[in-house]
Amino acid sequence: MDLKNFQFTFDCSDFIEPDVCASPASPDPDDTISLSESVLDFPREFGRTYHAYRAGSYAFPNDIPEQERLAFQGPIIKRLFGDRLYFAPLSQSNPPRFILDVATGVGDWAIEMGDMFPTSEVIGTDLSPIQPAMVPPNVKFYVDDSSDEWNFTDKFGYIHTRLTAGCWSNFETEVAKQAFEALEPGGWFESQEVEGVFSCDDGTLDPAGPMCTWLNEMRDAAEIMERPAVLGSILKEVFERVGFVDVQDRIFKIPTNEWPRDERLKEIGRLWGENFSQGLNGFSIQLMNRVFGRSPAEIELQLVKIREELSNPQIHAYMPVFVVWGRKPYVGEQVNTPMTE
Ligand SMILES: C[S@@+](CC[C@H](N)C(=O)[O-])C[C@H]1O[C@@H](n2cnc3c(N)ncnc32)[C@H](O)[C@@H]1O
Repeated sequence: MDLKNFQFTFDCSDFIEPDVCASPASPDPDDTISLSESVLDFPREFGRTYHAYRAGSYAFPNDIPEQERLAFQGPIIKRLFGDRLYFAPLSQSNPPRFILDVATGVGDWAIEMGDMFPTSEVIGTDLSPIQPAMVPPNVKFYVDDSSDEWNFTDKFGYIHTRLTAGCWSNFETEVAKQAFEALEPGGWFESQEVEGVFSCDDGTLDPAGPMCTWLNEMRDAAEIMERPAVLGSILKEVFERVGFVDVQDRIFKIPTNEWPRDERLKEIGRLWGENFSQGLNGFSIQLMNRVFGRSPAEIELQLVKIREELSNPQIHAYMPVFVVWGRKPYVGEQVNTPMTE
């Protein structure tokens, strides 16, 4: 396969200049759940609703505010990626027959892929049936727990995850290995994951301030609940360990508000900050309550200070976004296995 026209590693250390003027395949039907069952009976807690299928396994809500936030975050990520939905070298003239979007959320990525590849069949799976009913005829959604064994009847040409940190107890065994098995030889697996960390290149973010303290606590809480929030930075080694070849990565920085001078990044940062701020209650309320025993009022109080910092353009923070893609080798292909100690 000729890969010379594709972009290789993008160095995360690239400095973003701040704006100094700124003021502050169809699954086996036996293994998916029909909507007539209790999957629509969403449990309610803290004034939010949560997924009913495998209730309690995922800490973020699934109500209308969260669905609106999900519908808004996909386009921001796409913009960060230079208007791309994927980086794997998919062929427009010979597109994948089957495409899978694992943990599809409101299904916006799957729907856009269905429009872009009208001859492909795109399948999106999620714990929550929160996808629209009116979708292109080649797009289908199923309620499924992707940490269970996958039982798809067809092999996929392309499998995708986006923003799934915090969904898995072990991404390698639950998702990457299963994706490897579910792909046809030569098929591609791609993950696009925001790392749960606030970074800063010029010292304007206080590592002991509200944002960093909160995210450190969130990472600890997620770890305790066995849903680690650190995923992006381990993707490449996981892909290689599982057996993917031609593994490539790109690392982006998504600003937390409108602090960059560059107009494109300024707009992306403004949108990301708004989206993040909108999501803070949903991200925090179950984890912080369950793990640290905090009351909803205490949690909300902490969030006020985080929102203040998050929206301050004097603070030049960003989150790293990792995109990794790799190919399942062809049968009989000579593969260089990674060196082991
Ligand atoms: C942060 S959202 C991201 C959704 C979508 N991929 C996107 O980029 O907008 C994570 C999604 O993963 C789903 N999810 C969590 N655990 C899952 C699991 N074990 N199996 C399938 N879906 C899961 C949640 O219901 C939620 O819709």
